[in-house]
Amino acid sequence: MSFYPLESIARLKEGYLRRFKVAGRDLLLVQSEGVTRLIENRCPHDGSPLGKGRLLKGCIRCPKHGISFALNTGRPLGGEAVSEVGFLNSFELLEQDGQLGINVEDV
Ligand code: FES
Repeated sequence: MSFYPLESIARLKEGYLRRFKVAGRDLLLVQSEGVTRLIENRCPHDGSPLGKGRLLKGCIRCPKHGISFALNTGRPLGGEAVSEVGFLNSFELLEQDGQLGINVEDV
C-alpha cells in the first residue's frame, strides 16, 4: 500500500473544499455537517466539475443543473426527477500521522 497524504486533519473545517490531482484522477476533498469525503470532481449527471459546487447541510450541489448529492451516501437528491442519475464516485480516506490521504492503488 502506498499512502498519499492530502491534508492535515487539523486544517479540515465545515465547508472545506479543495481539489487534488492524484494518479491522473481529479478529486475533491470536502467536509460538510461533519461528513468528510473524497469524491471524484465529476458530476454523475453530465460530467460537469463539482469543484465550484456549493456545500450545504451534508450535500454538494452541482453548479451546472443544480442537482444535490448527499456526501455520506453519494445519492442524488430530488426523488423521481433524479432517479436516472448515478451516485457520486468516492474513495476511501485513510488517516496516518495526523494526515488524511488515500491509498494510491485505490484511485
Ligand atoms: S451536470 Fe451536474 S447536475 Fe447536471
